Amino acid sequence: MTRSFPSRRLSVIYSIPTPSDSECLSGLGLSLPQNQASQKEMVCLEHSFDEKLSLCFWKRWLLEILPMMSLTVTVILLVLYYTYSPTFSFIYVGGSVEIPNLTYTSDLMHPTSRTFILQAEAVQNCFAELYETSALGNYYLKSIIAAFSEGKNGLRAYYWSTFWGPQDIVLPIKNLTSAYQKQITSKKTLSVNSSAETFSLEEDFDITMELFVSDSMDYDVTLKSATDLFWFCLPVAFDLYAKPGNNRTLTLMNPKKSFYQWRLRVPSDYVVRLVVVTSHGVTPGSCASHRLSAYDFLLPLQNKIITRWCGMSGAWTPPVIRLTSSSNVMLVTFSLDRRKESNILKAYFQAIPKIVCGGRYISWNGTVISPYYPSYYPPNIDCHWIIRAPLPGYRLLLKILVIQVQEPSPGSNKCDKDWLEIDGVRYCKPIAEGNRIKEYGYSVTINFHSDELVTHRGFYVEFRAFSHMDPCPRQFKCSDKTCIPLNNKCDGWKDCTDGSDEVDCGCNPAEPNCGNRKCKHSSRPCRGGDSCEDNSEEEDSCSYKSCSQHTYKCLNGKCPIKPNPECDGIRDCADGSDEMNCACGKSQIKKTRIVGGEDARSGKWPWQASLHLGTYGHVCGASIISNRWLVSAAHCFQDSDSIRYSITSGWTAYMGTRIINKNSNNHIVMRPIKRIIVHPYYDQYISDYDIALLEMEAPVFFNELVQPICLPSSPRVFIYGTVCYVTGWGALKENSQLAKTLQEAKVKIINQNVCMKLYDDLITSRMLCAGNLNGGIDACQGDSGGPLACLGKGNRWFLTGIVSWGEGCARRNRPGVYTKVTALYDWIRQYTN
Ligand code: ARG
Repeated sequence: MTRSFPSRRLSVIYSIPTPSDSECLSGLGLSLPQNQASQKEMVCLEHSFDEKLSLCFWKRWLLEILPMMSLTVTVILLVLYYTYSPTFSFIYVGGSVEIPNLTYTSDLMHPTSRTFILQAEAVQNCFAELYETSALGNYYLKSIIAAFSEGKNGLRAYYWSTFWGPQDIVLPIKNLTSAYQKQITSKKTLSVNSSAETFSLEEDFDITMELFVSDSMDYDVTLKSATDLFWFCLPVAFDLYAKPGNNRTLTLMNPKKSFYQWRLRVPSDYVVRLVVVTSHGVTPGSCASHRLSAYDFLLPLQNKIITRWCGMSGAWTPPVIRLTSSSNVMLVTFSLDRRKESNILKAYFQAIPKIVCGGRYISWNGTVISPYYPSYYPPNIDCHWIIRAPLPGYRLLLKILVIQVQEPSPGSNKCDKDWLEIDGVRYCKPIAEGNRIKEYGYSVTINFHSDELVTHRGFYVEFRAFSHMDPCPRQFKCSDKTCIPLNNKCDGWKDCTDGSDEVDCGCNPAEPNCGNRKCKHSSRPCRGGDSCEDNSEEEDSCSYKSCSQHTYKCLNGKCPIKPNPECDGIRDCADGSDEMNCACGKSQIKKTRIVGGEDARSGKWPWQASLHLGTYGHVCGASIISNRWLVSAAHCFQDSDSIRYSITSGWTAYMGTRIINKNSNNHIVMRPIKRIIVHPYYDQYISDYDIALLEMEAPVFFNELVQPICLPSSPRVFIYGTVCYVTGWGALKENSQLAKTLQEAKVKIINQNVCMKLYDDLITSRMLCAGNLNGGIDACQGDSGGPLACLGKGNRWFLTGIVSWGEGCARRNRPGVYTKVTALYDWIRQYTN
């Protein structure tokens, strides 16, 4: 994905305050002239262009016929030509004005409503009156109200005003406008309506105004580059409002038009959060014709762009991007090439409370992040933090883990746009690995600034206090002198890069942890073949409790007290039904990549299958759950523009192998696929219900290299932090090639709420997250459909998840997202029992 921003070559944008007229504004709410469609007015700019086009044409035509004419006619025509055309051009002014004595109502959202038309007419007349009586009167053409929104204390109107004049009136327009402002500001108060209430200008009469000047000589190009500007004249616009707690969606499926815009609004004390979930059809190098832009305003003003994308190849894997506005409105525009077959946009927006950033921290360690991180920070914000070590004698160590802010102006080596400032030093560019950590004194100040334009993900800074006597206060010190939280010591998971947090834990790292902080000693077998010294195993094997949705139910209808009783090698049901279907999940390897993984040993993951499609070779992974059935991900079987992934006949499953495409292996088992059952609720936009069942043409025979994995039943619980393995032949890192040898990576199950936060509430109850929040270990492209296997008691592996999606691969705070198998157990059983 690449991003590009309009060049300033063709347009000049000024930001200046606007003139005003108290009498005119006082009438706004009262005398609504009974006039028709401002819609009609909205087409005006297109008319202006037609006029201009005909003028250009006329110029050319004149020059062509000149030689054929008599002298007098030529002179007359030349005079006409110079009077009318040479340096005249259209000058567009776009901005917004807040009218304090009016309130925003839902009627004012739709430009076709009568209320909108009448109110727009009143404001337009007011603008006309203002400009026509000014020194600019001769150049003024018209003003159009394009939209209304809820203002801080009134109604906010978004307008365009058009002038036709020589380039040199741009400065007078600026000066006159500034003069107006000074004049009004010096009065301090402004009488707005007949009831003689007074309003302070700065607070209540808040006007933003921009000038957009198009250059007549570049007319054609300007028209293209200013396409955004004229969208408001085109009919495909959607006006949406979201109340707090509601998500409103923006969807386009194979749209018929070339330009769309959505005007998003939320209540005035909230800001707009936009989440773009999927966008197809925006292809590389076509920024001119395909793009998705978001503006921090209700008009497509080029100096209000929060971000713009073009040049994305293929489909986006959700979730893509989360943007935040600085006020209660946002404009989203999507322009596309209609000749492309599949153009899709799916996004939603919500009202989120305006963040109060900054603060004081006195802490041993913590993080400082940009507002809404990892969502894009809003434009136009300043934050200030002070961090202090808890005790004198300690200093602070800061590490900038992420910094993605708007880059400085070309040629400038100062950070002049957006920046992070730590103790007076500004950062706005990516930082080399070696320069990320710096030592500071007892306290440190951090400032963050974002200007009006273009935002990014922001920054993520970790800090901790230390002293030379006490390098890891209240933390565990790894042998390599890094510090980790105390409770990460001996948790069965290597947090220190050198693994020093898992030594002296009383457990041999080669032996699995029992989950109860004890270790599995093979020398001390206990009942049922399990060797964990877990008291629960010594208890009465047939004690029951009352059944609920969340308890395991024996065939006799009773519910054992113990969690996860199935296939743990202990008879928990009097009828033995909990140990009945347990010929699964056994790895023939007695002891026990993907990104950050390692080569798997032969026979370690005997349920792993590779799904090949025709000549494309390996496409997805799958897991064997019975001699006829495989489980994979639904998204592996969705047709693309050029490839029919949904056709059963193209697919073959390869099993019993760890080296892909090595057909010489005589253990390899190949089975064509007879039937693909994609979950009926599968949602390709958010990857919900991402599961598919594949029926093989003929049953497979199990051997030590081909074995089914156990299916966890619905009540099975996987404790957060449980260690599991993901396996597959997917890419070894983002955007890289498939692995040749089956890779395995140890990942931890991540708390659902934590993951919800990381992925902006895109995690449904059919998903679970696993990985390492520090990044570095994950599934990746090509692993999809493959297993996330977790070891249960009785040393059996259970299919906990199916590789589904993730943002990038192995990124920090972007864990892998898996289809949660327990949530779909009944659906699977319905077909495969
Ligand atoms: N959708 C990917 C595939 O088709 C799998 C992505 C998994 N990504 C991750 N970061 N865990 O292979």
